[in-house]
Amino acid sequence: MERQQEVAVGERLLGHIDGRTTDLAGAMFRNPVSAYFDHDRAAVERERLFRDQPIFMGLAARLAKPGDYVTEDVAGMPVLMIRSADGQVKAFVNICRHRGAPVARGCGNARAFTCPYHGWSYDLGGKLLGTTDKTGFAGLHLAAHGLLRLPAVERHGMLFVRPNPVQQGETVEIDIDAGLGAFAADLAALRLETYRLASTDRVSPRINWKVAIDTFLESYHIPYLHHKTVAPFFVGNCGTFDGAGPHGRLCLALASLAEVRGVPEGAREHRPHLFPIYQLFPNTVLIPHFDHIQFWRAFPGRGDPSRCDVEMTIYKPADTDRSDAHYAENRSIVLRTVMEEDFPLSERMQIGFECGATDEVIYGRNEPALVHFHASIRTALGRSA
Ligand code: FES
Ligand SMILES: [Fe+2]
Repeated sequence: MERQQEVAVGERLLGHIDGRTTDLAGAMFRNPVSAYFDHDRAAVERERLFRDQPIFMGLAARLAKPGDYVTEDVAGMPVLMIRSADGQVKAFVNICRHRGAPVARGCGNARAFTCPYHGWSYDLGGKLLGTTDKTGFAGLHLAAHGLLRLPAVERHGMLFVRPNPVQQGETVEIDIDAGLGAFAADLAALRLETYRLASTDRVSPRINWKVAIDTFLESYHIPYLHHKTVAPFFVGNCGTFDGAGPHGRLCLALASLAEVRGVPEGAREHRPHLFPIYQLFPNTVLIPHFDHIQFWRAFPGRGDPSRCDVEMTIYKPADTDRSDAHYAENRSIVLRTVMEEDFPLSERMQIGFECGATDEVIYGRNEPALVHFHASIRTALGRSA
């Protein structure tokens, strides 16, 4: 956020604290519980959300130099993302055109990729360099059997891929700024290209991927569920909400925001007392802290809408003078809160959704980020409920 916006959001929050209010959605929103476990719904989500939308793949530091690559399964699509020799970020489907083995594993730096199964090799541009048995594949048109290309982009220090192979005549470009709308300036201001990876943690809780995202989209639960951990740091059930297309920005008030009241209005520094949470549609949550940035991504479990894969990454400024121990401590507080308080309760909720006793859940007007998230999903899926 730019300073002017920080001041506006900070003052909005002070008003809410005084009036014991919070930003409100226009109306309550009811969602069928089946949205959290139905296989047909999950299949449509996969197409409309995890094939049609650009998916955040981490910060540019993951692909620092030419030849660097990462591999990931994105909602069932094996993705290979590369910084090619010319410095451009490119993405491919990570399957060999012979019989489908992955041509790369994990992450690293390479000049070419050699399939582990029968040794076919591909260059950093995805071109098939050759087969290992010339007779068996005589006449095979090498140029037509390169790795399948996926649209990808590097923007504001962030990597995105659209996990849907490019068809003939389609562009490999993604216009991220158009998609991010008003938040493009916020993300540019974070200077994410200056950050380096500090830690990555992955878990596979027994919950639908949307429950994992829901966890971050309201502060209503903080005084209740987190009363033994982080509750003292926050003003519960108090936040501002702004939407930009399907994306959302929730800003919570830290309890310390009260300190700025002693400062004349023009000189107030609100930022250290704000806790912004960006929800990047569809499956990413970005939390910019003062000395690090935290990302959460949730992916639907393969073939099972009742499971998901969640990743938390922490990035730190390249020039930080904070110790590794500082970041390790930060990581452990977050993991304790989310993995030991939020997700265990979420797993019980998932059982509740599936038991058949209730038809719907209700997101209150005091939970505008949740309302916006689920309304945006409904719009993207082209559904009325
Ligand atoms: S599957 Fe890759 S070379 Fe055979
Ligand atoms: Fe929580």
